[in-house]
Amino acid sequence: MANASGFFTPTMRISSSINLNRSGFRCPDVISKRIRCSSTSQGVESFSPPESRSPRLVSKGCKLVGCGSAVPHLQISNDDLAKIVDTNDEWISARTGIRNRRILTGNESMTGLAVEAAQKALEMAQVKPDDVDLILLCTSTPEDLFGGAPQIQKALGCKGNPLAFDITAACSGFVLGLVSASCYIRGGGFKNVLVIGADSLSRYVDWTDRGTCILFGDGAGAVLVQACDSEEDGLFGFDFHSDGDGNRHLNAGIKESTTNDALGTNGSALGFPPNHSSFSCIKMNGTEVFRFAVSVVPQTIEASLAKAGLNRSDIDWLLLHQANQRIIDGVATRLEVPKDRVISNLAKYGNTSAASIPLALDEAVRSGKVKQGQTIATAGFGAGLTWGSAILRWG
Ligand code: ACO
Repeated sequence: MANASGFFTPTMRISSSINLNRSGFRCPDVISKRIRCSSTSQGVESFSPPESRSPRLVSKGCKLVGCGSAVPHLQISNDDLAKIVDTNDEWISARTGIRNRRILTGNESMTGLAVEAAQKALEMAQVKPDDVDLILLCTSTPEDLFGGAPQIQKALGCKGNPLAFDITAACSGFVLGLVSASCYIRGGGFKNVLVIGADSLSRYVDWTDRGTCILFGDGAGAVLVQACDSEEDGLFGFDFHSDGDGNRHLNAGIKESTTNDALGTNGSALGFPPNHSSFSCIKMNGTEVFRFAVSVVPQTIEASLAKAGLNRSDIDWLLLHQANQRIIDGVATRLEVPKDRVISNLAKYGNTSAASIPLALDEAVRSGKVKQGQTIATAGFGAGLTWGSAILRWG
């Protein structure tokens, strides 16, 4: 079991008053040194020697300044699912809280949703695509085996060829992306980092399995994380874990074709060339994953709060990965967060994996629920198994 839990040691315990500076991280001595930042993702056709970027001061803080989201048009209700598997609206609503989900169809693509979400986040942040330094696409379902982030960079028209790459950590992916963004900003001199959570798990669902097909939907959400002074720092503490042993409870493993494209059904005695590979559908022991989630999520949030020097009562909003309303309610009860401080849009979209947190955040910000300066405790959990949390300030 690995534990990654904060890269700088907190130096001060911070008062529970949310108006104070609550940067829970020590800035290392090298922080004031100028460093050179020269990572790029270059399009081959337009390749030209990368212009060297201006050296920047390494930043001491980072803040969330914009968000956006996008979902497919097709809505599938519980009643629609009852037409293809032995289930009903009453069971799904009561056991999961889900009523509808959105599914990619026709010309829609996950990359397209991710681009739309990113554009909205940039617009809210008033940051031009050319000023983006890094794009992190958190996804387990890229539309290219080699990663989808550079395609988003291209579609956004970021002329500076910023580095763009994927992060795969299932439903924990977005929170890990946010923390990764803060590391690049604090330690690497990056200024504007686009963190996108996007997934299309509908493509890997076994639509004959009522235990899983009722849960998942497609979507995308994005946040612009920006460098700032330590006084404005908006990431107070984080905590991450993984447990590969739990993979047996939730996976979509590699699947080899039984025929070999080159050699036919007889294959090769040497096992070469290899057969074509793809991924199997999602296989999940729901009861085990449920138990895992209600046990580890309160623990990781408590750990992040401790690193931030904050208490449960400092949480303005609890924003968990949207997997099951009973998990969300159970964690809220354990943390003594009142129901009206819990963000949930699960009923509309189901489990959209890495997209679920930024999608719910975007709706909560745009509806005026989450306000500038408020503290959010967020946590992701899922396949891997992976789980982790972060305590953030919006704006
Ligand atoms: N409709 C009707 N009945 C159903 C359905 C359905 N869709 N699914 C299962 N049942 C039945 C079962 O067959 C079982 O019947 P039985 O008692 O006669 O054997 C009964 O309902 C209870 O089944 P359970 O699987 O025990 O139901 P449970 O209450 O555990 O709910 C669920 C299942 C919703 C999957 C739940 O376990 C869950 O949400 N688990 C967590 C999933 C999760 O959080 N995943 C997160 C990560 S996803 C990722 O990372 C990609």
